[in-house]
Amino acid sequence: MTKDIDWKQLGFHYTETDYIVRAECHDGIWGPIHATKDKHISLHLSATCLQYGQEAFEGLKAFRGADGRVRIFRMEENARRMARSAEGLCMTAVPEDIFCSCIELALQKNMDWVPPYETGATLYFRPLLIGTTPRLGVGPGHDFLFAVIPSPIGPYYPSGFEHATPFVVNRHVDRAAPLGTGQFKVGGNYAASFRATEAAHAQGMSCLFLDPTERHYIDECGAANFFGILNGRYVTPASSSILPSITNNSLMQLARDHGLIVEQRPIKLEELSAMSECGACGTAAVISPISRVIDPDNGHVYEFGDRPGPVSTMLYHALQDIQYGRAADSYGWCKVV
Ligand code: PLP
Ligand code: COI
Repeated sequence: MTKDIDWKQLGFHYTETDYIVRAECHDGIWGPIHATKDKHISLHLSATCLQYGQEAFEGLKAFRGADGRVRIFRMEENARRMARSAEGLCMTAVPEDIFCSCIELALQKNMDWVPPYETGATLYFRPLLIGTTPRLGVGPGHDFLFAVIPSPIGPYYPSGFEHATPFVVNRHVDRAAPLGTGQFKVGGNYAASFRATEAAHAQGMSCLFLDPTERHYIDECGAANFFGILNGRYVTPASSSILPSITNNSLMQLARDHGLIVEQRPIKLEELSAMSECGACGTAAVISPISRVIDPDNGHVYEFGDRPGPVSTMLYHALQDIQYGRAADSYGWCKVV
């Protein structure tokens, strides 16, 4: 029995479910995984996650399909990315089998929280890895807590897929350094982006980040990757300071399958003027079309319209058809539970 919730009204907000799943690691040895109703932890105030930001997280979804079965999308890729994030902050990586077992247990223990088919809502998992060693000397700890926090969610951008979202450029705040932690999914990147994202939200927009070296090239759309359609090609930034998006990787494959040439390269901001459509893509964002990009430093406005373009629409349906089990899963992206 699914819960009695108005699923269609859900936004991207935390809703507490019955269980979370946890495992601990001490000196490189992982302990047992267990599900618990307790969402709180007892943590030393000198823990490395609190003092020095030794923390990494992930985001992935389970979809209730057209056939009633539940599919987790590309969970192994999230496990691998979290392992890279862990290495990036000198943390012990969560082994892929432990990561996946924790996700599957979190799903099994919260099956009633997987939203019904065709509500637009999904069960989102937030895996979290934190350093728990008490330490004042600056350096990494050797104790870690891994937790998977599930929550049913709706669209990340309130306008969803049907209505496009406006973005504004910010040349005064970088979310990451050129060779810093932008390629890792660590909390510090998000804290560092708040000044820019809050300023954009105050203007009713989202923030488009430029490359932190020259600020000429497009980096990321808030908490999502950027893609554009340029002369019929799918173009998306190559940069050392952006998160390699699993959604973007999937869209690149689907674009190729539909005969598009895919280019992953530095993209100058001015190239927007030649694009027929563009969007933000990510687990939370899925595809969120971009309506316009405003450059406040020169007053330039790149316009794309309020509705999704034809290529974004095709890619959105191709991706969601696999996630909801309406199309063949040719690449084995979904784990049916
Ligand atoms: N970029 C950033 C900064 C993100 O936080 C996310 C979300 O995870 C993405 C891109 C999209 O990545 P993915 O498609 O793997 O969710
Ligand atoms: C995601 O797309 O899964 C994210 O984690 C982005 C953001 C909500 C942090």
